[in-house]
Amino acid sequence: MPDPVSLEVVDGIAIVAIANPPVNALSQAVRAGLAGVFAAIEARDDVRAVVIYGSDRTFIAGADIREFGKPPLEPFLPDVINQIEACRLPVIASLHGTALGGGLEVAMGAHFRVADPAARFGLPEVTLGILPGAGGTQRLPRLAGAEVALDLITTGRQIGAEEALAIGLIDKIAAAGDPRTVGVAYAQDLVRQGAAPRRSSALPVQAVAPDVFEQARTRVAQKSRGQLAPLNCIKAVEGAMRLPFLEGLANERALFTELMGSDQRSALIHAFFAERQVAKVPDIKGVTARPIEKIGVIGGGTMGAGIAVAALLSGLKVTLIEREPEAVARAKANVTKTLEGSVKRGKLAQTKFDDIMATTFSASDDYSQLVDADLVIEAVFESMEVKKDVFTRLDAICKPGAVLATNTSYLDINEIAAMTSRPQDVIGLHFFSPAHVMRLLEIVVADKTAPEVTATGFELAKRLKKVAVRAGVCDGFIGNRILSHYRKAVDGAVLAGASPFDVDRALVDFGLAMGPFAVSDLAGLDIGWATRKRLAPTRDPREVYAAFSDRLCEAGHFGRKTGKGYYVYKEDGPCPNEDVLTHVADDRAAKGITPRAMSDDEIVDRYMAAMVNEAARVVEEGIALRPLDVDVTLLNGYGFPRWRGGPMQYADTVGLEKILADVARFAREDDFLWQPAPLLQRLVAEGKTFGDLNDA
Ligand code: CAA
Repeated sequence: MPDPVSLEVVDGIAIVAIANPPVNALSQAVRAGLAGVFAAIEARDDVRAVVIYGSDRTFIAGADIREFGKPPLEPFLPDVINQIEACRLPVIASLHGTALGGGLEVAMGAHFRVADPAARFGLPEVTLGILPGAGGTQRLPRLAGAEVALDLITTGRQIGAEEALAIGLIDKIAAAGDPRTVGVAYAQDLVRQGAAPRRSSALPVQAVAPDVFEQARTRVAQKSRGQLAPLNCIKAVEGAMRLPFLEGLANERALFTELMGSDQRSALIHAFFAERQVAKVPDIKGVTARPIEKIGVIGGGTMGAGIAVAALLSGLKVTLIEREPEAVARAKANVTKTLEGSVKRGKLAQTKFDDIMATTFSASDDYSQLVDADLVIEAVFESMEVKKDVFTRLDAICKPGAVLATNTSYLDINEIAAMTSRPQDVIGLHFFSPAHVMRLLEIVVADKTAPEVTATGFELAKRLKKVAVRAGVCDGFIGNRILSHYRKAVDGAVLAGASPFDVDRALVDFGLAMGPFAVSDLAGLDIGWATRKRLAPTRDPREVYAAFSDRLCEAGHFGRKTGKGYYVYKEDGPCPNEDVLTHVADDRAAKGITPRAMSDDEIVDRYMAAMVNEAARVVEEGIALRPLDVDVTLLNGYGFPRWRGGPMQYADTVGLEKILADVARFAREDDFLWQPAPLLQRLVAEGKTFGDLNDA
């Protein structure tokens, strides 16, 4: 491996280049390299200023996250940055790409900062369950004030060069150019002006209103419920206000070390790598995707319109097909309204909107408009007959090589593909509603799907800025199959004695964005009802079938869309629908169940054990490639708390023995629902974890 940090002296300017691809992370070798070159620079008498820059695509993007959780290796980053800051010569950081985390901390340890106009800055540590632990919580308040520091450090949000200049984080935005030339030119200017080192740690800390920190705590309690890192971030910035720099640094380190040892840190870093690992799919390694420029969307309801908007926002041409002129007009209105919303929220420029409406978006009731489409996604009513009809028509019209995709949530894609003369071109692209917002895309690979069609699905996801997970064909694929299982487990908890409202509250306290009953109301109770009716003929007589939800549907209560479901939706917010308790009591009585009290812990244990047990089957059957694919699915499509890393990471954290013991515990009540997954049993017997399968 070549030395990742190099030093060159040109006309009295020491040029320090960091070359540690792909993102110039601060590995031990980089830290040691920086310490070494700064010691060498101090020893020279022919240097008048120092420039640090990152070679290739970016400045330093942060600490090397792969080193986290392992024994820390010297030199430590805070010491290296203190050494840079102590340099007797002016040190200039020339920033381009993304200066993030420890990278931005290095920049703040330099004395001057110049940036490319397109550079981005941020302290994303909080999103990894830690805090900027190399002086960032002490130097940023001194450079930009405590309020700005609290905002950037507790949210991890990235900012552009203009904002960085306005808050005092950088000194200058240069004309676009390579960071070496930009840095050297700025260094020469500073030398000409006789600039001396200007150390962030020596700047005074401006006083702030006393309630600034309390307000930050209130914000964090709402937005980052259950998370440790944002609270420690606030404490560290508070330390900068009341402690001298070095003591503030020690306080920061103690708070950082506490987070480094937390399960939340392991979970968030697992999520970070898992979201990159999911795109690594063995059967498409080295396979070239088909080019996609024009797509067709069949069906202009909520899902179809959302898919069309996602595609339009990423610059694709979209033709939306509906059955008759009135439906075309409605579909067009759906798309227009959503795009107008993006304009209002400042996410889409008015000129771009005008351009989309004039040139890239069209809607029609004529399938022949799709003759030149590279990919068509069907998002029509969830019925095999309707889907088969659509695919027969697409097969007759679409050009050879066009990818034909279905957005079905449950139906057998092999059966749909068999309706065409080209099953190799048929694939499932399962979006989540609202499709232009939700990040998850399940790419469902049918028996005959060609590898380049799968690769095209992954390329499309990248273009739409979605996280794509490969799934195999089964009822519900990865996410909905696991969901229908844990839904049965929470229905079981209700039959046993909890109320749906207890269940939702316990699971929201656990960290879910919404409880499962509130989610059903949002999705529409008729959707689950239709699935239950579809599966009724094949239902095993041993299944304990919770019927209380059917009673709501029979009364015409489908959740939010009808104003009533498990909750009643009023102007001032939802409140529990007390009728539900009567339906539940009737159901228990019909089954001869005497309700008992159930603790929140038991509700969570049931929910998690059901989820993990079914997920183990999904992995064992190859529906999900690895446990991490399940985690990414649940995190991005089902509101599972990111700081718990996903169900499989959670299971590894609490121990697979506990999950298996819980399955056995609940099987005493219902041994049909609670059958242990063979993979779970095997891993426990072998003393292994799901993480071991990810690494295999
Ligand atoms: N450490 C180790 N590897 C990293 C990394 C890091 N900080 N950042 C990115 N990588 C790896 C990715 O895992 C990926 O590897 P593979 O190709 O093997 O999958 C590769 O670099 C490219 O990353 P992306 O696919 O994410 O590339 P991108 O161009 O889409 O995004 C990025 C680049 C914006 C830098 C993004 O990778 C990112 O946000 N990285 C994390 C930045 C971060 O959180 N930094 C703070 C670290 S914590 C810290 O610094 C603590 C401290 O105070 C000491």
